[in-house]
Parts: sequence; structure tokens; C-alpha cells
Amino acid sequence: MSDAAHDVRPTTESVNSLLAGLDDHDRETIELRLERWSDDLVAALMVLYPEHDVSALALRLVESAVAGYRQRSPELRRLDQRRLLRPDWLQQPDMFGYACYTDRFAGDLNGLRGRVGYLRDLGVSYLHLMPLLQPREGDNDGGYAVQDYRTVRPDLGDVEDLRRLASDLRGQGISLVLDLVLNHVAREHEWARRARAGESHYRDYFHVYPDRVMPDAYERTLPEVFPDFAPGNFTWDEKLRGWAWTTFNEWQWDVNWANPDVLVEYADIVLYLANLGVEVLRLDAIAFTWKRLGTSCQNQPEVHAVTQALRAVARIACPALAFKAEAIVGPRDLVQYLGQGEHAGRVSDLAYHNSLMVQVWSMVATGSTGLTKQALSALPTTPPSGTWICYVRCHDDIGWAIDDGDAASAGLDGYAHRRFLSNWYSGDHPGSWAHGLVFQHNAATGDKRISGTAASLTGLADAEARDDGDGIGQGLARLFLAHAVVAGWGGVPVVWSGDELGLPNDPDWAREPGHEDDNRWAHRERLDWAVAARRGDLDTVSGKVFQGLRHLAGVRAGLPQLHASAQTRVILETDDGVLAVVRTHPSGSMVCVYNVTTSWQTVEVRHFADVGIAHPFDALGGYPVFGGADGLASLSPYAAWWIVEAPVDVVHT
Ligand code: GLC
Repeated sequence: MSDAAHDVRPTTESVNSLLAGLDDHDRETIELRLERWSDDLVAALMVLYPEHDVSALALRLVESAVAGYRQRSPELRRLDQRRLLRPDWLQQPDMFGYACYTDRFAGDLNGLRGRVGYLRDLGVSYLHLMPLLQPREGDNDGGYAVQDYRTVRPDLGDVEDLRRLASDLRGQGISLVLDLVLNHVAREHEWARRARAGESHYRDYFHVYPDRVMPDAYERTLPEVFPDFAPGNFTWDEKLRGWAWTTFNEWQWDVNWANPDVLVEYADIVLYLANLGVEVLRLDAIAFTWKRLGTSCQNQPEVHAVTQALRAVARIACPALAFKAEAIVGPRDLVQYLGQGEHAGRVSDLAYHNSLMVQVWSMVATGSTGLTKQALSALPTTPPSGTWICYVRCHDDIGWAIDDGDAASAGLDGYAHRRFLSNWYSGDHPGSWAHGLVFQHNAATGDKRISGTAASLTGLADAEARDDGDGIGQGLARLFLAHAVVAGWGGVPVVWSGDELGLPNDPDWAREPGHEDDNRWAHRERLDWAVAARRGDLDTVSGKVFQGLRHLAGVRAGLPQLHASAQTRVILETDDGVLAVVRTHPSGSMVCVYNVTTSWQTVEVRHFADVGIAHPFDALGGYPVFGGADGLASLSPYAAWWIVEAPVDVVHT
């Protein structure tokens, strides 16, 4: 830490007064945490607010942290201790995630408490509940337009129900994950209301411009997130007599993180949610939080300082809390969110592996791994404490985040390949089996994103509707392959609700008021509990999908190689139809091998011996793998192998 930073660090005397009334143990706890984390806090504040009194600001935040600590329940303080003893808890191979809307999954929070057994049956240990804090009335972007961070949406229950649910889940080994929507608030949020009522203090919480000069200047380099239903990035507000920055919808107002009061507000919200029992906060749209003229206003370096400051506050008050960055950005910008350079170990624990998700769909559509090998091996090394959220798809659309340079290295044209994928997955390409929907076609850039459930995108749902046995077989194989690649990557695999049963797109998605323009609702279907009740029946397609995923979760949990800190390396010398990935771990290496084609493929068994696997054994299938005289092992269409050293009893039989 620099001398300058030392000078603005909270002093012992100033902190002492904050600790008054704490017993010796608590006082020592806070002192030790301050000793450990206040440098992180101060360093971040100095980057963010060089023009402000950083010392006073740091003290304000420490005051919040101490207040948060005082309010933390004994149960949660115990959790803090437990997590401090196992800081890599999110990296464990038995982490398996599920994400859903509370109402669409189980009606309300209390209903959800009655469905925990279902989640456990699947192997879930991490549950992301989509936004459930009080949103604005009417369209609210699936809850991402928050009106009040301290109230639960009334039809789902109240804050006490949420607290109870978090505790129940924890009792059954499931960590609750909630969104912290921190790039914007609803136009109806108190800060925005007071800004509109003329309070300049709150006007400064937003980016407001009296005329088009600055908005036009920014627009020159800003992309559009929702070009269809919310073109442009600014909205005129009559009451404000100004243009408000609205990256997403016109009723989602971007907050001004360059104002330290905003940071203090969000720090308090972080502590409040942590004290309800939330274990992981998903930092929604974090990439957009810092604006800089002449840029895309995404992935600015200050974004990481914002995360670092909030993280330091949380570590002082509630160290069990983990952070997940929701940054759906290009492959080169992604790893920063897990902490690089000065931010290593100081920002988010988790980030979405958007690039892997895109590559899974690219491989399955093309039957080729050339681009994938290039793209995945070109990613910077993941920091050892960082963990990817690996997913086949989520509640959002799929945007084809393929780097033009990667495409060129693989002999492809990036633009043409992205176009091909959009056409393929919307079923608009000869031979396509997919049934997705086009989301936000941007005529200016040619960008066409895709909505759809995993079963619809793999053709399974359509084959089932047609009762086409071959099509069902192929769809199942594709779906299982996609999930196996994701679960075998070594992060936390997260399944979107309904995909575990292979549910199709919701044909009635547009009927709900406020949803008609947003076809992401087609893949946010309600869970069909009649189908779920038959999940044990392997004669049903849903049963096969559910048991397949359950199997993946179960096998994963027993493989130390899938600890997220193990490094992943893509083997470049495999045939084009085969992806092989090595994971190196002290307990022995693992090679995941996938055939992404509809025909038989081979893989050289020397790849197993090269990493010390003498007796290759497919942990997914549960059988040994042998090469022929030519040194090749044969992979059936869409085969997925997780190769490890055979268990001793298998070697000797
Ligand atoms: C995130 C959410 C998405 C939402 C956006 C704006 O990207 O995943 O659903 O529309 O943020 O909050």
C-alpha cells in the first residue's frame, strides 16, 4: 500500500469510538478484520474518489460495517466462522446451482420452502432466486427495476419469510443467492422520486443532463442493450427537466457511482441483505456501472474498484458473503471480474463463463471444435481463487460473444459465424433442429440474440412434441453433452429452472401483461409439478433429463479434480469433432472428452497417459476406456467422458 493510502486509513482513535459497547471478542474480531481489509477499502476509494475526503469516506463505510456486524445474528456469525475456515467453499466439486423465479417455481417464498426436497434430489447446493425485492409496478424487467431494496415483493411474502427461507435452505446445505441490482433503480425508487421532486442531493445520484450535448457525445460510442423496446441510452424526464441515463429500459435509471453517497447507500444495502441470510450477491449488470466519455461505458477499470470497496466493507461485517459478477462481456474482458492485477483476490468470487456457454452452442451447431479450442485456450488464466458460473443458458437471451480475432484464427469470419448461429438457433437455417426465438435484432449491427429453453434449442422439445423417437434420442444426447461440458469445466454449474426436466418454450409467454415485447419470457416457464412428479420415471423424456443431470451432479461431487482452483487446459491436437480438456489436480489429473458430432470419432489414448492416467476410466459412464492397436479410443456420437485414473478395484479385475 502506498504512503498516501496509509495517511488516509481510518485511525485507531476514530475507529475506537465506533467500537464502544462491543465485548472483547467482538472488538478483537472487528480490529483484526479492519487490520486485514481496510487497506483494500482505502485503495479502492482513492481510485474512485480522488477529489473527495477519502479518509472521512472510509470512516463512514467502516461505521456502516460495524453497525452491520452488530446486527448480524449468531447463526450468521457462525456461518462467517465456517466460511473463514473454508474460504474455497464455492470451489468445491459438490457445488451445483439452480436458478428460478420464486413465483414461477413455487408460488411464493413459503411455497419454496416446501420444494427444497426437490432441489436436494437434483443435487442443488446453490439457489439463485431471481429478483424478489419490491419492483416498480407494471413492466419491471423481471424484477430488475427495484423500487425498494428493503421490502420483498408482497405477493411472494415478506422480509421475515425471506429470512426464514434462507435459514431453512442453509440447514439443508443450500446457499441462497440474490441479485444486487446496482447499475440502476426503478424510476419509482425513493432516490429517483426525490430527484424528480427537485432535491438536488438525489439528482446527483443519477446521470442527468439538461440538454442533448452530453447524451449525444456519449451515444457516439455507446451500444444499445435493448434496441427493440428501449432504443438509445437516455430518456427525457419532464419532472427532472433533463435527460436521465437509462442503459436498459426508460424506467431503469442508471445511478451515478462517481458520487460517493451512492456507494455508501449500496454498502448499507449489501449489509442488510447479508444479514437476512443471503450468502451470495449477484452484482447485476456490474460492467455498466462506470461511465467514461468516448468508450462503450462498459468494463471501465473503476468498476473493479467499486466491487473492491463493497467487498472490503462486507468482509469486515459479514465475511461469509460472496460476490458474483454478472458481466456478460467479450471473452477478453471477462477474467478481470474474477480479479486481475491489483484487484486479484479483492473483487468477485464468481463470474459467468459466458464464453463457454456460447462455445457449447457453437460446437453443437457446427459439429466442430476449432473455434472453441482457440477461444477457450486464448482466455487469460483464471485466478486460483476465482470460480466460473458455468451454464448452458440462463434467464437471459444468448448473445454471440465471439471475438473476431478468435474466429479469424479458426479460419472463420466472426460476423458470418455469429449470423449463422442466430439463424441456426432460430431454426432459420437448412438442417437446423433448433426452435429458439430471435431477441433484439439490431439491424444496424446485424446482432441477433436468441431466446429459448435448453430443450427447445437442442431440438428435444420439438422432437418430443412430434413423438419422433430418433429426434428425441438426438436431442437428449445433445442436451446431456451440453450439460456435461458445463459441469465438467470446474466452476459452479447452474441449471435454469425447467431445463432439468427438458421443458419446452412457453407458447403463451406473450400473454402476460408487460411481457409481450420481451420473448425472454418464453424460456422463463413455470415449473410443471405434474411433470416433476414423474422425474424418477426413466420411460419419460423429463425423467431421463432429470436423472441425467442428477447423475452429473453426483459424479461431479466425488471428483476432486473438479475443484474450481484446478487449472483447465484445452488439448489442441484432437480431431475437429472432439473437445478434450485437461484438469490438473494433486489427486490426479482428469481429461474430459466430448464428441460434438453425430458420427463416431476417435481420441488418442496417449493424451491420458501424458497427464499420468495409467488406467483410463470414464467416471461418467463408470467403465474403463481402452485404445486399440492404433492407440485410438472410439467415441460414440455426442459421447461425454470424464476420464480419471481407474479405481483400484477396477484395475485389478
Ligand atoms: C442483467 C439481467 C437482465 C436484465 C439486465 C438489466 O443483465 O440478467 O435480465 O435485463 O441486467 O437489469
